[in-house]
Amino acid sequence: MRLQNKVAMITGAANGIGLAAVKRFVDEGAKVIMVDYDKVVGEQMAETLGEQVAFYAVDVSQRQQVNEMVEAAAKHFGKIDILVNNAGITRDATLIKMAEEDFEKVIQVNLNGVFYCTQAVVPYMVEQGFGKIINTSSVSGVYGNFGQTNYAATKAAIVGMTKTWSKELGRKGICVNAVAPGFTATSMVEKMPDKVLKQMEGITSLQRLGKPDDIANAYLFLASHESDYITGHVLHVDGGIMM
Ligand code: NAI
Repeated sequence: MRLQNKVAMITGAANGIGLAAVKRFVDEGAKVIMVDYDKVVGEQMAETLGEQVAFYAVDVSQRQQVNEMVEAAAKHFGKIDILVNNAGITRDATLIKMAEEDFEKVIQVNLNGVFYCTQAVVPYMVEQGFGKIINTSSVSGVYGNFGQTNYAATKAAIVGMTKTWSKELGRKGICVNAVAPGFTATSMVEKMPDKVLKQMEGITSLQRLGKPDDIANAYLFLASHESDYITGHVLHVDGGIMM
């Protein structure tokens, strides 16, 4: 069991990649704080996963909700060893057509949300002299992507924050890394036209979309002791995409 006696907080835990990660982490012995604003599905999933998990209905872009949840969750489980900042949204439009509201919304969730969650959790990690933080970037943040000014900006910012936090927190025993997934079969890409998804498969060396488990396995590696000498790294899990 690679996460025996560990407590992990995973955001965006009700669906897609986050839910796959919750299941992997539970299988490896972790207790998991599931965070998502999808209360209905989140509660259902937590119910099926049993006592190893606790679900918190929280919008990560709301600082007060995040602070209260982290305090309650740390009290419930006694500590927080691992944070996976996985929650994210898209509001796609080309630059010329992008509404300011959609630009702001994506920044609030994908960027501010990661900042709020990390700032709330890090004091617990510092106190115990150990922590693993995993941030979710994207191929869009690395290469840019048509129609994703807002999203690509946040996912590139994740890389900058990851490298900065690895420098600040390494001396406190905390490793900070990012995963940059390629196009992965979840509700996020279901919104994209089939034609575009086929094109994405075509420019991927492995000629397929990612599965949520492909990304969850990378989170697991970076959360486990197997990656104890890795920090400030961006792990591309994209099937060898050439964008
Ligand atoms: P998804 O849409 O299937 O799941 C995202 C989850 O985050 C949902 O459960 C949603 O309710 C939750 N969420 C969204 N906003 C929230 C908020 N403000 N507060 C709390 N929870 C919130 O998406 P998917 O594909 O599982 O994405 C997970 C992460 O992976 C995201 O950060 C995404 O940007 C990233 N990613 C996904 C890729 C893909 O192709 N699916 C590619 C590259 C990165």
